[in-house]
Amino acid sequence: MLQPNQIKIGSDIFVPFLNEDTIQKRVKELAEEISGDYAGIIPIFIGVLNGSFIFMSDLIKSVTIDCEIDFFKLSSYGDEKISSGRVRLLKELNCDVNERDVIIVEDIVDSGLSVKFIEELFSKKTPKSMKVVSLLVKPDSTKYDVKIDYIGFKIPSKFVIGYGLDYAQKYRNLRSIYILKD
Ligand code: IMP
Ligand code: MG
Repeated sequence: MLQPNQIKIGSDIFVPFLNEDTIQKRVKELAEEISGDYAGIIPIFIGVLNGSFIFMSDLIKSVTIDCEIDFFKLSSYGDEKISSGRVRLLKELNCDVNERDVIIVEDIVDSGLSVKFIEELFSKKTPKSMKVVSLLVKPDSTKYDVKIDYIGFKIPSKFVIGYGLDYAQKYRNLRSIYILKD
């Protein structure tokens, strides 16, 4: 039977996984760590749309150093729960990253394909440094060799929604994160 705090989407049931307080506490810790590492530097936080917009917003609100922001927009999943295995660039950066320290902000790293794609885009640009922060990482799903410098939570290889993460473009507005029940 469906419990009050569960979400039913078709025949799938999602259950509470990371609540708002847990997420907010961890995001603040990441912001503190990044602020310490980048003291005296003005990094550019580059969010990967759409999924990262809520995490990026909360993260930079807790960052205590000067910083700038910009966004990439990638597409990979379509409306499915499984990656299409292809990534397309839907929106390029608007800022000049030459000799700048960039921090890529991802919502979740699953196969690592999106991060790999971004690394390849940056191999044609000339930033001074590039690091990656991801709120969530699914270590058992990684297929591409990518380094995630700051990780919020390592999670099982199951589909999650909320806090920016969607299922067929919906549920991004949930304040906590829900996970697909077995
Ligand atoms: P990757 O390229 O396979 O690493 O997948 C990265 C992108 O797929 C993320 O930035 C998300 O937009 C999306 N994604 C991966 N896993 C999930 C999930 O569990 N829920 C929602 N979106 C996901
Ligand atoms: Mg994403």
